Amino acid sequence: MATHYYTASSLDGFIATTEHSLDWLLKQDIDLEGPMAYPGFIEGIGALAMGASTYEWLRRNEDEWGYTKPTWVFTHRELPIPSGAHVTLTADPIADVHSAMTAAAGGEDLWVVGGGDLAGQFAEAGLLDEVWVQYAPVTLGAGAPLLPRGLELELLEVARNRNFMCGRYRVIRE
Ligand SMILES: NC(=O)c1ccc[n+]([C@@H]2O[C@H](COP(=O)([O-])OP(=O)(O)OC[C@H]3O[C@@H](n4cnc5c(N)ncnc54)[C@H](OP(=O)(O)O)[C@@H]3O)[C@@H](O)[C@H]2O)c1
Repeated sequence: MATHYYTASSLDGFIATTEHSLDWLLKQDIDLEGPMAYPGFIEGIGALAMGASTYEWLRRNEDEWGYTKPTWVFTHRELPIPSGAHVTLTADPIADVHSAMTAAAGGEDLWVVGGGDLAGQFAEAGLLDEVWVQYAPVTLGAGAPLLPRGLELELLEVARNRNFMCGRYRVIRE
């Protein structure tokens, strides 16, 4: 099993605007049956981790909680959890949460949804295996960063999916 950071990004390396908008992304054309698209990716995922801003974006923009797999939300606050959602709020060390996710995932892979700093924290802990990025044909100039760390990556796969240039990378551990 592996831990993936799977996300879309602007060409200049931002995953949301400074106001946490994804309008620039949601208007893009993608083939959901095509290479590196979300439905194929999520099939192999057994547990998710995300930061508080990402969780709050989902709560603001989606009517219902869309994930059936257990999800850990990193926060120092008591955020409301939708009824029936398998969500755990945590500020525990990354390694402890990763162990709990692994135990819950039943042999399936783990997904670090974002943001970029949280993915960086997993990488720092030596617990990030792959980075998948779908680059949209947009520059934002500023915003939430894709992955604000210095990491060495090996390019494993590239593809075009309609508007997106997609790359899958392996995190090279020292
Ligand atoms: N383009 C895409 O496909 C994509 C994918 C994912 C996310 N996004 C968007 O990108 C933006 C990301 O926002 P962001 O950069 O602010 O990142 P984020 O990881 O979503 O949220 C950061 C917050 O998470 C909490 N946090 C992070 N690490 C923690 C730790 N170790 N322990 C406890 N709490 C921790 C803190 O919240 P507290 O203040 O509550 O402690 C921190 O302020 C969001 O707008 C999201 O919707 C886009």
